[in-house]
Amino acid sequence: MRKIFLSLLALLMIGCTDKQVMAGYDIVPLPQSVKTKQEAPFIITKNTVITYPEGDTLLQRNAKFLSEYVQHATGYELAVKNSTAQKSIVLDINPEVKGKEGYRLVITSQNIRIEGTTAKGVFYGVQTLRKAIPAVADGAVITLPSVEIVDSPRFEYRGMHLDVCRHFFPIEFVKEYIDLLALHNMNILHFHLSDDQGWRIEIKKYPKLTEVGSVRHRTVVGRIDSGKYDSITVQGYYTQEQLRDLVQYATERYVNIVPEIDLPGHMLAALAAYPELGCTGGPYEVCPDWGVFTDVLCIGNEKTFEFLEGVLSEVIDIFPSKYIHIGGDETPRDRWKECLKCQARIKTERLKKDQRFTAEDRLQSYCMARIERFLNKKGRCIIGWDEILDGDIAPNATVMSWRGSEGGIKAAQMGHKSIMVPHMYCYFDYYQSKDTDKEPLAIGGYIPMEKVYSLEPTTGLTQEQAKFIWGVQANLWTEYITTTDHIEYMVLPRMAALAEVQWTQPDRKDYKNFTCRVLKLMKLYERDGLNYAEHICEEKSELQ
Ligand code: ACM
Ligand code: ZN
Repeated sequence: MRKIFLSLLALLMIGCTDKQVMAGYDIVPLPQSVKTKQEAPFIITKNTVITYPEGDTLLQRNAKFLSEYVQHATGYELAVKNSTAQKSIVLDINPEVKGKEGYRLVITSQNIRIEGTTAKGVFYGVQTLRKAIPAVADGAVITLPSVEIVDSPRFEYRGMHLDVCRHFFPIEFVKEYIDLLALHNMNILHFHLSDDQGWRIEIKKYPKLTEVGSVRHRTVVGRIDSGKYDSITVQGYYTQEQLRDLVQYATERYVNIVPEIDLPGHMLAALAAYPELGCTGGPYEVCPDWGVFTDVLCIGNEKTFEFLEGVLSEVIDIFPSKYIHIGGDETPRDRWKECLKCQARIKTERLKKDQRFTAEDRLQSYCMARIERFLNKKGRCIIGWDEILDGDIAPNATVMSWRGSEGGIKAAQMGHKSIMVPHMYCYFDYYQSKDTDKEPLAIGGYIPMEKVYSLEPTTGLTQEQAKFIWGVQANLWTEYITTTDHIEYMVLPRMAALAEVQWTQPDRKDYKNFTCRVLKLMKLYERDGLNYAEHICEEKSELQ
């Protein structure tokens, strides 16, 4: 009865002629606390104003984002003002809100208040409000039930990776990808910028990296062992100007870009440009195959370090990220075993084999530790793939655990920060259906939504050790992904499942409930013309 009365009241307040839609707090990722109240709702109409404190440019920008989001759903634009107004959506800083990314969203009949200790927290409150509003509400007034939402993320590092080396994607698409991160409350773009098959970042000191290294003249057709090659040129790189603009775009959306220069393996594109940096001197080709290759950087050659320091100096000049990913994965030791310079380095650095590691394993550790020292001196920290544990881990390194969770567990037990990206849960280049004949060609594997959702990143750790799990990320390698439509298909809606692993406390997670909420989010994907996968709809009908 009370509900009917409140709805009638709402109708009287807005006039009976306007189309009405109802907002709901069944969103992804699920907030930590949602308390609806039996009070009159707030009504958003085209006359509703969004306000921010005078002089607060960050909240002003958040207010503009909110206005844009409402416009995408309704077609009408809400005014943004720096003064108080009746019946408004108020964005404000409140030091009492917990957590630097936390927010409180309180809705009464009088106003909507979104508060955070920081503008970043308010941004996530804005994301929640945006997702509570129906995706399609053409010209409608929106009824928002009275509520108090108190929310903050479980993990600080909430990432998505993007490989632009195996195939290249335009900068406009990378911006769209960043928008998707923001929509899913994610805050890190791990940007994989160098690999065997293409070098994608302009380095002014080493122009051949892009002149030669960013152009691949042929590519293996189909699976890696097909023996057939096309003659299609795959090329492209981002200029430093484009990347600086991208950093700004990401920063506005509270996304930090962690650039990756993968070393000392996965370097064939660089070696094709500067063959003197390899143990054999080449010649090398920007790699037309997928996999792991024996030609890597020569660690015995001082020129290699001059090169890496030159490259990384420009990388850190473009990317303000405190963390720089320096790879370290899949580096065969074959060439180092044969190379006189590498063997001389092993001698002078007194790198010894023991039961656990070879001298060449320790040569890789030497390389990683030396680059770490270089970056630490510049105020930056390194992240490396979990192979950096196969030797002596660089003292301040953060480990990205991809071969499973074991690397992350080991690192956490040793007191190193780790990021969980175990491939059997987090490799979004894997198939999402068992019916692979109906899917575009993928690298293999099988990771449906439920599998992503089921990841518990701290399993196997004590409470104290679990504090070293910095966060979770999914990776998108693009050997078999050539178009932006295909990228969308592989990440949507699996990103939604990942978002809940990253954001929502485990006692709040419930897969069946998630499958209902994700359908609402998929309406937003649909509205924005995104090419999302629909397997969850079939899975859902099986669950019922
Ligand atoms: C990796 O997938 N090679 C990190
Ligand atoms: Zn060598």
